Amino acid sequence: MASWEDARKRLPTNRENVHVRSLDHDHLTLLLRDRLRLRGGGETPSRRLAWAVRDLAEAGALPPGTRLPSERELAPAVGMSRGTVAAGYRALVEAGLCERRHGSGTYLLAPAISDIGHLMRRDALLIDMSKSTVPDPSFLRLPGLDPADLLRAPSQHGYDLLGDARLRAALRGRVSGDFLVTSGGQHGIDLALRCFVRPRDAVLVEETTYPGALAVIRRCGAEPVPVACDVDGPDPDAFRAAVARHRPVAAYLIAVHSPTGRVTAPERVAEVARVAREHDVLLVEDRALAELVHGVPAPRSYAGEHPDGTVTVGSLSKVLWGGLRIGWVAAAPPLLARIAELKMENDLATSTVSQRMAAAALEHSAQDEWLAELARRRDHLSAVLRRDLPQWTWRQPDGGLSLWVRLPGADAERYADLARAHGVAVAPGPLFSPDRGYRDHLRISFALTTELLDRAVAGLASAWHARATSPVEPGSGLDLPV
Ligand SMILES: Cc1ncc(COP(=O)(O)O)c(C=O)c1O
Repeated sequence: MASWEDARKRLPTNRENVHVRSLDHDHLTLLLRDRLRLRGGGETPSRRLAWAVRDLAEAGALPPGTRLPSERELAPAVGMSRGTVAAGYRALVEAGLCERRHGSGTYLLAPAISDIGHLMRRDALLIDMSKSTVPDPSFLRLPGLDPADLLRAPSQHGYDLLGDARLRAALRGRVSGDFLVTSGGQHGIDLALRCFVRPRDAVLVEETTYPGALAVIRRCGAEPVPVACDVDGPDPDAFRAAVARHRPVAAYLIAVHSPTGRVTAPERVAEVARVAREHDVLLVEDRALAELVHGVPAPRSYAGEHPDGTVTVGSLSKVLWGGLRIGWVAAAPPLLARIAELKMENDLATSTVSQRMAAAALEHSAQDEWLAELARRRDHLSAVLRRDLPQWTWRQPDGGLSLWVRLPGADAERYADLARAHGVAVAPGPLFSPDRGYRDHLRISFALTTELLDRAVAGLASAWHARATSPVEPGSGLDLPV
């Protein structure tokens, strides 16, 4: 069995050591409390604790060699007695996952994992502000969901091209007209663009945009052409000029915009849609974030002005959970028929099991509470940033899950590398720009708990202050941010 010494030898580089140090006891306690909340009743508290430690270790969030907090420290933090914590630790030692070192504490042993596992672990240690996602789906309610129900499909083979009837009924208040269910918003964007865009076509995009759409446009062999925007959305004159100059086949536009969080003004929607209709430009309208508005009306749909030439993409990833992988595409019947044909070739049908779960979650979950909580988290992050990083500037977003901040005089990509070394992942501006501009901007998610936001800002501030003195290796390799 691997010992602590073996485990320590497996963490040879400075970079990894930075992360190990950054996982202090408060952070570890936070992670454990979070896991314990996910594991409901029905089990003894000591078994729940052992499960939580094991789960974090398997997810790569706790590196081998991590010293677990002492029983005296952990017991009050997780609301258990010292005896219960001791029993949980004993169970971990008996299972071969931990080692007790006399007079020193309980340490995690190294599981047998591959190199890729080591790489993944490094990310799992970070507080991740780089992804605009629902970070924790435990607010979802699925009361009385019988797993057998998930398998009772009206069309017995379970391949419903347009989507499961129960989910379609649950979506009717949100989606108007003809639509089909997809495996998330990204799938919808991919289908819509791939269906109509050909190599060397021009596709207009907002000057900052969602990287997942840029990737699809490029994969089609087409060229994304940025259009100037202001706080109300795409500038109609710039849009008209770009249509005249580039003769685009399509424009990809975001209703509640990522990365900026601005909500496109209704008159902008009307003007841009009018230009698109006059010049026969297809609009692919991304409404993945459209329900996440904080105190302002939901954005108007481009489909209202350009009904025969708009494909609307929606998603439950931001209102429920990305792990469900459920979205939709709505369009006039001739467009939808072509998209349906492509979808059939592409995946035959979206998982019925996931659709049933999404329907149940839609029927029972309090989405207003999640929205109110998000607004609270936005205000919290803004207040803490104003206090600790007063040089940073941003416009308070009316929607979405992230702040789009400007770092005066900084190179956001270099700063992002440094922030990783201080335990926080952020998404640098060039990822959101077709011509890799916005080098002094970052997108940071405010959807984390306020406790994690506080810790993240502490890491961001120490990275900011270390900027002048810290040479960092560039290119730690960011995922495509969502
Ligand atoms: C603007 C925007 N569109 C689409 C998506 C993709 O949605 P999904 O996670 O449902 O695939 C995301 C993020 O995930 C997004 O931010």
